[in-house]
Parts: sequence; C-alpha cells; structure tokens
Amino acid sequence: MRISISINGALREADVWPGESLLFALRERLGLPGSKNACEQGECGSCSVMLDGRLVCACLVLAAQADGHEVVTVEGLAPGDELHPVQEAFVQAGAVQCGFCTPGLVVATVDLLGRVSNPGEDEIREALSGNLCRCTGYAKIFDAVRIAAMRQGE
Ligand code: FES
Ligand code: FES
Repeated sequence: MRISISINGALREADVWPGESLLFALRERLGLPGSKNACEQGECGSCSVMLDGRLVCACLVLAAQADGHEVVTVEGLAPGDELHPVQEAFVQAGAVQCGFCTPGLVVATVDLLGRVSNPGEDEIREALSGNLCRCTGYAKIFDAVRIAAMRQGE
C-alpha cells in the first residue's frame, strides 16, 4: 500500500507492507536511520519519534497508521547540520557512549522540555523511564537533561 506522511516538515511517500512498522519504513524505505532498532518490542525507547506531537515508539506503530499524519524524527529536530540544544547538552555532559540509545533519549528529552520547562529529578526519571541505556549508568544523561533545561530557561 502507498502511504503519505509529513516527516520532519516534508511530505514523503512510500510503498509499505500493511504489517510493517513505522520504524522499518523510516529506516529502510525513507532513508532516516537515526531512529534505532534495538528491541522492536516497545521496551527500549531507542526508536522514539514524535507522531502528531506525541512521543511514541516507532516500532509499535504501523507505518499504515502514520498515513496522513505528522512525524518528527531525531533527524528533524534541528535544521541542516546544526545540533539541537538538547543534542549539544548530551555532548557537553558526555552522555553518549556507544550512542545507540542517544537518538531516542534526545527525542524523549525534547518532548519533556516541551511540556515541562524546568523538570525536577522525579519528572526527568519518569520521562526517560522508557529509554534504556546499557552504557552510561544514566547519571550523565540526567546531567544532560538538566543542562538543556537550564539553557532553555536562559
Ligand atoms: S526498538 Fe522500539 S522500543 Fe525498542
Ligand atoms: S550509550 Fe550505549 S546504550 Fe546508551
């Protein structure tokens, strides 16, 4: 089936199998590999994207369900080669090791800071609880969120 999705502000079309995930379509058909595929079961958050302004796991959404809707992926957070302030904060905090979890965490953090300008510790932990990281132990990730929140408030 043919689907049409607004992705990062541009209308994109793709031929998809009715049962395939939005994550598969993004990565394998639309040239957007930033959203990572780690579990394909909604457990790790590495595939996090915004669908009509709501944070979702792209592996749990059918590509067909996104037909006619708006998707923002990690590639669309900042224009061109620029980094989004949240991405800059992750770099500054040293919150990236293997980097596999990072796109999902960045998208989840952008979502959090769009809803809560100065989140407390519990709000940060709750917001990122669906994003698993095997490398960092999370301390530097939480530092990155605090840095991004601080900069956003300046
Ligand atoms: S790949 Fe989607 S939640 Fe893990
Ligand atoms: S940096 Fe490796 S999984 Fe998070």
